[in-house]
Amino acid sequence: MTETISSSRILGELYADIRTDLDKVEGQLAEMIRSDNPLIDEINAYLFAAGGKRLRPALLTLCARLCGDGGSPDTAFWSAVIEIIHTASLVHDDIIDRTDLRRGRETVHARWGANITVLLGDHLYIRAIHQALRTRRYEIIDALSEATERMIDGELQEYALSGDPRLSEDRYFEILGKKTAALFAAACRIGGILGGADSGLIRHLDGYGLNLGLAFQITDDLLDFTGQPAELGKPVLTDLREGRITLPVIYALRKIDGVARADFLSWIETRSVDPLAINRIRAAVFASGAIPEVAAKAGQFAERAKSFLPQASPSPAARTLARLADFILERSV
Ligand code: IPE
Ligand code: IPE
Ligand code: MG
Ligand code: MG
Repeated sequence: MTETISSSRILGELYADIRTDLDKVEGQLAEMIRSDNPLIDEINAYLFAAGGKRLRPALLTLCARLCGDGGSPDTAFWSAVIEIIHTASLVHDDIIDRTDLRRGRETVHARWGANITVLLGDHLYIRAIHQALRTRRYEIIDALSEATERMIDGELQEYALSGDPRLSEDRYFEILGKKTAALFAAACRIGGILGGADSGLIRHLDGYGLNLGLAFQITDDLLDFTGQPAELGKPVLTDLREGRITLPVIYALRKIDGVARADFLSWIETRSVDPLAINRIRAAVFASGAIPEVAAKAGQFAERAKSFLPQASPSPAARTLARLADFILERSV
């Protein structure tokens, strides 16, 4: 629990300068998700009250700030749109991953069932796009739609490749680039557009977001092995149980041979849900030395993310974006 408090405290400090903007995002979210359908209203209230780190709104806001935006209502509006898309992806993801805990609460499908949850997720996606269309800001809508398409493509590829231990490191990164980093990059790009950045700076913000997103998802995959459910607000060892081949497994497979390797491969291929097998695999991953290697890889992407930020006399927003890159590696939430 101490870890959670310190992670939450660090995030609170990082968000200090944009607290007012993030409060406005909460107001926008409440307005945008309101529905005449009481069931949709009930589930959305449940979902959004659970919080979440609000990383994508923070990135969008900080990137807009970095480009000179002083807290325009547009920033809060687009932050809310992107957070709704992210939330829609989570409610669907939790069905696919068969997880029953998210943001410290029962998942929507655990509470309302998969059928309602699929529709709720669809509703959130289209609500976000509907709100976005009203603005007629097609450059932003294009960036968002493309990122969302990539995200779903990445989720689909990851699922389709489950249980295949031949998944290469490059292919894994390609999937992460789509399922997670595309939306991070879009948040940063949209911040740049709103802040009036030129195309060169927008490309840099995109590069920052993409690499940050990769570092973030690699860390997420690491936390599936090393994290604590009470801190993360979601279960651990889910990737293993579902046969997802993540970087800890890819690196461990390079080191493990003999009987242990045969066991490992047969477990991945059959996707046994036997908790004992999962624990054996987990122990083998730790013993292989893969964990620090994966952490180092996440660190490389975080460093690459920072290299896209303006280096000379960085503004407070640029400094916070750099610190966020460090935070996502060290987080326990
Ligand atoms: C969870 O994202 C999904 C991943 C991309 C790993 P977050 O960790 O940003 O989720 P919340 O919004 O804070 O709950
Ligand atoms: C999150 O992926 C979903 C998307 C990025 C769309 P994961 O399944 O890896 O993330 P968690 O661990 O459930 O948050
Ligand atoms: Mg998941
Ligand atoms: Mg998933």
